[in-house]
Amino acid sequence: MMNTININTFLKMKKNTEKIVSLTVYDASFAKLLLQAGVELLLVGDSLGMVIQGHGSTLPVTVEDIIYHSRHVRRGAGEGAYIMVDMPFMSYATPLTGLKNAARLLQEGGANIVKLEGGTEILPTISLLAERGIPSCAHLGLMPQQVHKIGGYKVQGREQVQADKMLQAAQMLVTAGTDMLLLECVPSALAEKITQAVTVPVIGIGAGPHCDGQVLVLYDILGLNQGHKPKFYKNYMVAGRDVAAAIAAFTQEVKTGVYPGPEHSYD
Ligand code: KIV
Repeated sequence: MMNTININTFLKMKKNTEKIVSLTVYDASFAKLLLQAGVELLLVGDSLGMVIQGHGSTLPVTVEDIIYHSRHVRRGAGEGAYIMVDMPFMSYATPLTGLKNAARLLQEGGANIVKLEGGTEILPTISLLAERGIPSCAHLGLMPQQVHKIGGYKVQGREQVQADKMLQAAQMLVTAGTDMLLLECVPSALAEKITQAVTVPVIGIGAGPHCDGQVLVLYDILGLNQGHKPKFYKNYMVAGRDVAAAIAAFTQEVKTGVYPGPEHSYD
């Protein structure tokens, strides 16, 4: 059981090219199972708005919702587990609002690190969090909280201008003090470039095999997704596996580089 995970664990793993395994989780029972399977980074994602609450997007999720689920995950996972939580839509609309809400997520939700969607526009918030000792992960690429502005869930960074902008934003966010990056729906080659260019761990979802770690939505690997299945989707509830075996198989495939394969990645 992993009971000593902290931000330095992930930096060391990046340095040693050991893949980081992450899954979303929303309750105590699954938190225990994930730890037992060797999942190192537990993410209380605002995807809970869709998979738990049944909304069509992540936008209705509130800070209270994340705190509620994060407390359960912390209770199930124990003190030593490493928990990342999403900052919900508009909960970091200004740096000060972001600071206040991030503090609540750590104090009341028991989180270790907060995740914010954004590029250069969140630099002041990232700097303020870093100054006040709050670890952060900047989420680049497809930002589901901006779905109405983008007009759908689409791969980001295919055009050169957009790719250059993303790489530059990644570097600036790291300079501003972010501790991790998460890339969603980004072409493999761009994700590889960003991963090599920054000193912090980069977790990918639909971002190819070269990221320092991989995350998926737990309900997707358990075959509970009855809606749209993105390219990076993989159901591990096959060949008579039970839930624990499915989570263990995902962990093993990430560690050994089997997941994601070319069929799960974007050009
Ligand atoms: O909310 C979430 O679950 C996420 C993952 C898709 C990375 O942000």
